This record gives sequence, structure tokens and C-alpha cells, in this order.
Amino acid sequence: MKVEILETLRNAEGFVSGQELCEKFNVSRTAVWKAINTLKKEGYEFEAVQNKGYRITKVPDLLSENEWYSINKNQWVGKKVKYFENIDSTNVVASHMAEEGAEHGTLVFANQQTMGKGRRGRTWISKPGTGIYMTLILKPDILPNEASMLTLVSALAVVKALEEVAGIEGKIKWPNDVVVNGKKICGILTEMSAQIDYISYIVVGIGINVLGEEIDEEIKNMATSLYLETGKKINRMEFMEKIWEKFEAYYEIFLKTKDMSALEKEYNSYLANCKEKVCVLDPKGKYEGTAQGINSQGELIVDTWEARRLVSSGEVSVRGIYGYV
Ligand code: BTN
Repeated sequence: MKVEILETLRNAEGFVSGQELCEKFNVSRTAVWKAINTLKKEGYEFEAVQNKGYRITKVPDLLSENEWYSINKNQWVGKKVKYFENIDSTNVVASHMAEEGAEHGTLVFANQQTMGKGRRGRTWISKPGTGIYMTLILKPDILPNEASMLTLVSALAVVKALEEVAGIEGKIKWPNDVVVNGKKICGILTEMSAQIDYISYIVVGIGINVLGEEIDEEIKNMATSLYLETGKKINRMEFMEKIWEKFEAYYEIFLKTKDMSALEKEYNSYLANCKEKVCVLDPKGKYEGTAQGINSQGELIVDTWEARRLVSSGEVSVRGIYGYV
């Protein structure tokens, strides 16, 4: 009932009267009052005015399943969620859950990770209370070679949500980082369990440094937090909700063609280094060229002095020629 009351108050334009809440949920005044008090203990603040009712004035930066259910408006992403105060890695847990039958759209999130995974075996620093660490389970009807495009779809959802909740323009460092003012604030790790022609499941893990007030020395020159860049303390749960709202919409578009043809233009408008010189760190050899944007297959088009090359994500990483971005 507490969740339902919270949901009603969060979605209301102004005050909601106690009477209205009693009638809506068929409970007594005392029950409403008790629920409001429990919410206050959790950090919510309300304005209570006689003859008008209640209005939410402050939402705490709290991660919880209840908080998620009270704001989630998606059709299928996050219909079921699992929250951990502390976990090794949301990608690892989500993979186990997917194997055990968790359904398409299940979302796993945590307040802290002790063994957050980055790409290529790197670790993802995941301090408590400052970041978003979340993983979505997908069981899509696509081919294994189409799966890497879901990273691009996710990056697009993150920059779009960033624009709406924080009012700043992020850039996508192809394929899977989101950067603000030239430094990384978000990384995406998409992992898959598949046979040659069949996907059993995909997990899309997103890590974002939202509230961090300082950055570890060893990554200081390439990483930052949203707070450090904007001075704003963005509510993590609201940011999460916005990302998955955007993801759901982009995913439906992606599924129609199972490629990026309908999204490439928008993706390219956020692409860092587009039409600029980049350095492609290919294990077979490093080369330079001009990034021209992605194509419908999600490959990065790079024109070198001798030919046009199509870079697919895998082991390759792309840098601007003057540093990390
Ligand atoms: C990268 O840039 O190297 C990718 C980082 C991905 C980090 C996220 S945090 C949530 C999810 N769980 C993990 O263990 N990793 C991803």
C-alpha cells in the first residue's frame, strides 16, 4: 500500500487529499497516515495542508524495488526488478537469473558492486551511494551478430536521458562510452550467451558515475561524474527510469529492422569525434583516419588516406588523436 500511495503522490500535479487516498485504496485514514510516516522515515518529505491533503516535496536518493515500481511507466522493461544493496556484479547476477528463467525485461540494480566488470577484463569501480549499476536481461529474437548493436541502442538511451534529466549534452564515444566535457561518465558492457544462430540471453550492463565527489587518481584524467560536471545532484532512480523509458522506445525501433538504419542519424548526432581525426587501436595494427559516423550495421566508418574502413566493435578501440576521447 505504501508503494501505491507513493506512486499516487508522485504522479499527482498538486495535493492529494487523505480522503481520496482512503477511497482509492479502500483503507482507513490511520492506515494512510501510517504509510506517510513510514515514507517520512525513509527520507521522503511531504507538505500536509488542511482541506487540501498531501504533496511530496522531497524524494530521497534512495534505491529500492518499491521506489522503482512507484516511478516505472514502461511497458516491459523493469516490470520485474531485483535490487541489491551490495553485490559482486549486476551483470553476473543477471546472467545467473537469465539462465534460471528470469524473463525478458527483468532489471537488476545495486547500490554498490564489489567486483564490477568493465570491458576487456577491466574492473568497474562501483562505490556505494554514488553510482548507477544496473543490468537488463533481454531474450530477443535476433541473431548473435546483431546483438552488439544493443550497446549502441543503450548508449543512445543514456545520452537522451542525460539531456532530459540533467539538461546537458553528452557525447557517445563509439561504441559504448558516454562522455561529458571530454571525460567518461558511463560505460556499457553487453554480454551474451548464444549458440551460432541462437541467442539464449543478453545482459546489458550500464554503469554511471552520478554523484561522485572525487575521482580516483589513476582514472582522473579520463573519468568524471555527473555531479562534478554539472554541480547538480541528480536523483539516481529518476535517471534510471528515464534511461529505460528511452531504451524501450529505441529498442522497438531497432527491432523493426534489427539494425541501426532508423537510429543511425540520431546516434551520429551524438557521436564524439564525428568528422574528426581518430586513431583506431586494432590488435592487427594501429591506424588513423577520419570518423564519418556509424552505418546501419553499427560499424564505425573511418576514412583513411588509402581506403574506407568499417570498424566493428569487438576488440577494437577508437580514440581521438589528442587523448582518451
Ligand atoms: C566499460 O566501460 O568498461 C563497461 C563498464 C560497465 C559497468 C557496468 S556497472 C553495471 C554492470 N555490472 C557490471 O559488473 N558491469 C556493468
